[in-house]
Amino acid sequence: MKRLEGKVAVMAGGAGGIGTGCSKRLAQEGARVVVGDLDGAAAEAVAAQIAEAGGQAIGVALDLADPASVAALFDRAVATYGGVDAVHCNGAAIADIASDLDALEVDLALWDHTLAVNLTGYLLCTRAAVPLMLERGGGAIVYTSSGAGISGEKTRVAYGVSKAGVNALARHVALRWGKQGIRANCVSPGLVLTPAARANAADRLDLLLSLTSSPRLGEPEDIAAMVAMLVSPDGEWINGQTYVVDGGMLMR
Ligand SMILES: NC(=O)c1ccc[n+]([C@@H]2O[C@H](COP(=O)([O-])OP(=O)(O)OC[C@H]3O[C@@H](n4cnc5c(N)ncnc54)[C@H](O)[C@@H]3O)[C@@H](O)[C@H]2O)c1
Repeated sequence: MKRLEGKVAVMAGGAGGIGTGCSKRLAQEGARVVVGDLDGAAAEAVAAQIAEAGGQAIGVALDLADPASVAALFDRAVATYGGVDAVHCNGAAIADIASDLDALEVDLALWDHTLAVNLTGYLLCTRAAVPLMLERGGGAIVYTSSGAGISGEKTRVAYGVSKAGVNALARHVALRWGKQGIRANCVSPGLVLTPAARANAADRLDLLLSLTSSPRLGEPEDIAAMVAMLVSPDGEWINGQTYVVDGGMLMR
């Protein structure tokens, strides 16, 4: 399907497990994609794979925790493709559960870094994107959230708080600029089999699968399908929502 023909999409964190799938899907839908990632070489590699498949993309080094780096990402999008229609904020600082502890024990530097990347970084992308989208009569933003931002967890307090903040950011942006044609929504993935997730022990993956209402765990393409729909005209009447895409694990 080519629902994004002529559009420009910025992927902030577009070269990891889920991000690569989303970058490729947006390109398959016809978008010219600016793949930003902390791993600049990986971002360029994803852009090269998109070009090999007949799409258009560039790879850019990006640090979501650095306001100048976020501004430079959007400057590159404008300089290369003339503007921005869609943004997917997806990159994240994800500490392991041995470091991101409970509210009494979490290291404050880790807390600050997690919020700087996962939440303030998404705010910085929003600040850069909204004026560019208003120039074009509207646009769509998707933020990657997590079940950790909806349900409670005994640890990962920094990660969960950052993702709950992202859900609120989407509602804010939807309310503030919805009448001007800007939409903002969240996708909240369940366990997606990225290379890192596949490294889990088989019995842990079996346990996680048993918690779903699906015969299988998730793939990056499952998340990419929702992101592509949300930024496309098919998502035109969807604003300020958080969609759980997790094989029916978290039901509300
Ligand atoms: N995989 C899952 O099961 C799962 C579940 C729920 C939510 N998520 C969310 O999905 C998103 C993608 O996660 P993933 O599983 O693909 O992980 P991943 O580690 O494969 O990808 C994360 C990406 O973010 C990039 N990144 C990290 N810090 C950055 C920074 N400061 N600036 C720019 N980019 C940065 C990394 O380089 C990497 O490419 C994250 O927001 C994560 O919280 C994933």
